[in-house]
Amino acid sequence: MSKQSLKHSWAEPYKIKMVEPIKVTTREYREKCAKEAGYNTFLLKSEDVYIDLLTDSGTNAMSDYQWAGLMMGDEAYAGSRNFYYLWDNVKKFYGLPYFVPTHQGRAAEHMISKIMIKPGDYVPGNMYFTTTRLHQELAGATFVDVIIDEAHDPRSMHPFKGNIDLKKLEDLIKKVGANKIAYVSMAGPVNMAGGQPFSMANLQDVYELTKKYKIKLWFDGTRATENAYFIKMREKGYADKTIAQILKEICSYFDGMWVSAKKDLMVNIGGFIATRNKKVFEEARNLVVVYEGLHTYGGLAGRDLEAMARGLEEMVKFENISSRIGQIEYFGKQLEKYYVPLVYPFGGHAIFLDAKQFLPHVKQDFFPAQTLSAEIYVDSGVRGMERGIVSAGRDSEGKNRYPKLELVRLTFPRRVYTQSHIDVAVESIAQVFEDRKKIKGMKMIYEPKYLRFFQARFEKIK
Ligand code: F0G
Repeated sequence: MSKQSLKHSWAEPYKIKMVEPIKVTTREYREKCAKEAGYNTFLLKSEDVYIDLLTDSGTNAMSDYQWAGLMMGDEAYAGSRNFYYLWDNVKKFYGLPYFVPTHQGRAAEHMISKIMIKPGDYVPGNMYFTTTRLHQELAGATFVDVIIDEAHDPRSMHPFKGNIDLKKLEDLIKKVGANKIAYVSMAGPVNMAGGQPFSMANLQDVYELTKKYKIKLWFDGTRATENAYFIKMREKGYADKTIAQILKEICSYFDGMWVSAKKDLMVNIGGFIATRNKKVFEEARNLVVVYEGLHTYGGLAGRDLEAMARGLEEMVKFENISSRIGQIEYFGKQLEKYYVPLVYPFGGHAIFLDAKQFLPHVKQDFFPAQTLSAEIYVDSGVRGMERGIVSAGRDSEGKNRYPKLELVRLTFPRRVYTQSHIDVAVESIAQVFEDRKKIKGMKMIYEPKYLRFFQARFEKIK
């Protein structure tokens, strides 16, 4: 063996300074917990979870630099020092001049939807996201999915499954008229498609098309650094650019963005709107005082703003983003060894199990992904979430939507788990896969009106 071939492992670019104990429970106990939670992983108590892969939202481990920043919170009602530092960093890293903080992403989505949408408008986007689409609909718009077809196929190896299909977009513009399009809503990577990025080339094409028709282009930049990473790794001409350079180039094509800071920025709470449009900025700055708090804190404490500002500086570091995506790749590769059906290519924030392939004997009406996420929890205490028919909800006529993708998402909080945690999760999923024929579906026994996946309850079918 040559010397070089011995050196192929990598390790997380951090060491552990403080630990939080986690509890190992028995299968019998977890069966009871799952039943009490109506087989919805959102309704489990965190202390009954062993390895929590529910979400990467607000569940990240902050660095010592961020924690130190918490002590520097300027908790003045108005004009906090932390606000100005964060605004400077938003300008520096995203390149957009105007900034309004919010307590989390959906508050920003709410305000942007209210400002940009008139009842009867259309909002085309690269696949829906649950809260984003709901706010667009509540403001009176119809969301239209214009993502490329490959995004709906778990096995397509297209490197940029988050791309917008230009023909679908232009056909919609011609059909309804440019003045009926509130804005084009582009997210990257696309959460519901499996964490799939768009390419810079596609973004440039979308930009040209929207410019031609004088339509605004808005960005859900919640996990924008992951998209920048995939561009660096997969797109010609970007290998030598830094994550920070690519991120700034991405943002240069957009009129503005909303962000859930609970992801990329590696904090536990936060969000914002950033834009180059002064009029939208002024409206958002005014609306924020109605819904969130003064425009210099947006529902957050000064210390939260400081943690976000410092998180921004860390999120663009290559080693942070590459180790994060490296963990997900490792997870996927281990699962492949057991032939577990997955969404390809592996995404930026999570591994997605293809529940239609995993449980082909369970019809979509009996919630295969919901069932599978509950089964994995019962097996090992590993918590994931449903991203299928339950998440998709109902259309304007009240009918269930039947998404092509029926998935279980196993999401990685940033800097929280080690390779051994991943190995345990792999073993559990492999075990459930081996026992899959015994699994039957479920029926929904309680359905809330909005975003039902958070609070719906289920019962096993006999
Ligand atoms: N946009 C995207 C792409 C998201 O993933 C989320 C949240 C939001 C907007 C809303 O932000 O939660 O801060 O209000 N995603 C979380 C998840 C909930 O688990 O994927 P929020």
